[in-house]
Amino acid sequence: MAKRQLNIALVGYQFMGKAHSNAYRQVGRFFDLDVEPVLKVICGRNEQKVKAAQNLFGWQEYATNWEDLINRSDIDIIDIGTPNNTHAIISQAALKAGKHVLCEKPLAISVADARESYSIAKQSGLVNGICHNYRFVPGIAYASQLVKEGKLGAIRHFRGVYLQDWIVNEAVPLVWRLDKTIAGSGSHGDLNAHLIDTARFVMGTEFSRVMGMSETFIKERPLLADTGGGLAGFTASGETGSVSVDDVTAFLARFQNGATGTFEATRLAPGRKNYNFWEINGEKGSIVYNQERMNEFEIYLTDDPEGLRGFHRIQSTESFMPYMSAYWPVAHIIGYEHTFINMVYDFLKAVSNGNQFTPDFQDGFRNQAVLEAVDTSCASEKWVTPEL
Ligand SMILES: NC(=O)c1ccc[n+]([C@@H]2O[C@H](COP(=O)([O-])OP(=O)(O)OC[C@H]3O[C@@H](n4cnc5c(N)ncnc54)[C@H](O)[C@@H]3O)[C@@H](O)[C@H]2O)c1
Repeated sequence: MAKRQLNIALVGYQFMGKAHSNAYRQVGRFFDLDVEPVLKVICGRNEQKVKAAQNLFGWQEYATNWEDLINRSDIDIIDIGTPNNTHAIISQAALKAGKHVLCEKPLAISVADARESYSIAKQSGLVNGICHNYRFVPGIAYASQLVKEGKLGAIRHFRGVYLQDWIVNEAVPLVWRLDKTIAGSGSHGDLNAHLIDTARFVMGTEFSRVMGMSETFIKERPLLADTGGGLAGFTASGETGSVSVDDVTAFLARFQNGATGTFEATRLAPGRKNYNFWEINGEKGSIVYNQERMNEFEIYLTDDPEGLRGFHRIQSTESFMPYMSAYWPVAHIIGYEHTFINMVYDFLKAVSNGNQFTPDFQDGFRNQAVLEAVDTSCASEKWVTPEL
């Protein structure tokens, strides 16, 4: 029997556009789905570039205005891979038009807008998801299972740093990620957002208060000649403009389960490329994860026998670990793109079964509330309680 088809419209065709397109193309080749995702239409503002993306990624059609997609009766899912300031408006319009929505992080660039998107999603009864793709790394999903099973006992600390270096050179132009009106914030919303989600996911608890500091070291950068450009192929215009976001944001946190947390995000750490590193310490052990070695994690258990106690490196590619039975034999490793394949698998399954998907818009809203509480704390130099 032919599978029910789900027609997808994807807005944005660059970095995340590529990752999401690939995920929809591959998901049915690895996972057993009872629906068939159809790559119906991809959207971007530049006709020539979106047409090229349509051909490259294998979409049936292209469009140059996202508003044209919203009321099309043949679209089931709107997937949003555009810059941050567009997420609230597109997702709210799509939900109101009865579409399921998968939205890149962050949900919005303000808590007020994120709360509104969450409220519309809740009322709609439609499947809504926020793309915190690191939850779909098998090792992270498995670590969260171990914590829930009590392997580490009560968790006392979460310690995370997310470090990159792609803007360390002052000649890197003022791309949209460095403009507060588009991005909302800098390293904080870009990178701490992932650590915040990981902490909530792995520990299964909420933030209770935060205390932050931030700094912008490179305050002026060359303006782009072509503002439609992504991270590759910069062309500077010869003029400069002001950077309006943080280069680094670090913060302390208390969690509702009593644990303490420290977080730091920067894109000015030479040599660190995508160093999404965290560890948790519980009363009976610790888990350590580094995204640059995403097929493994380390675990230390205090009840290991004396003489054999130490960090064990665990291959997180065993078939009994989340998502891994869809892929290869153990240690035949997977990559970054598989996090998106796993994510759209869960999302399509939720749409197919009428279930909810996690992380959803409530998770996106709570993430934004923590981000903004840290921003408020950076300005006031006081502890702030996120309004969850
Ligand atoms: N989950 C993750 O790990 C992850 C990684 C990277 C980016 N992101 C998020 O994904 C989003 C997109 O980031 P990116 O790196 O793909 O950016 P990008 O600059 O590479 O691509 C942005 C795309 O959006 C398009 N676009 C911009 N405004 C538009 C509009 N009004 N209508 C239609 N298309 C429009 C651009 O043409 C481009 O195709 C951001 O919100 C970012 O935070 C998430």
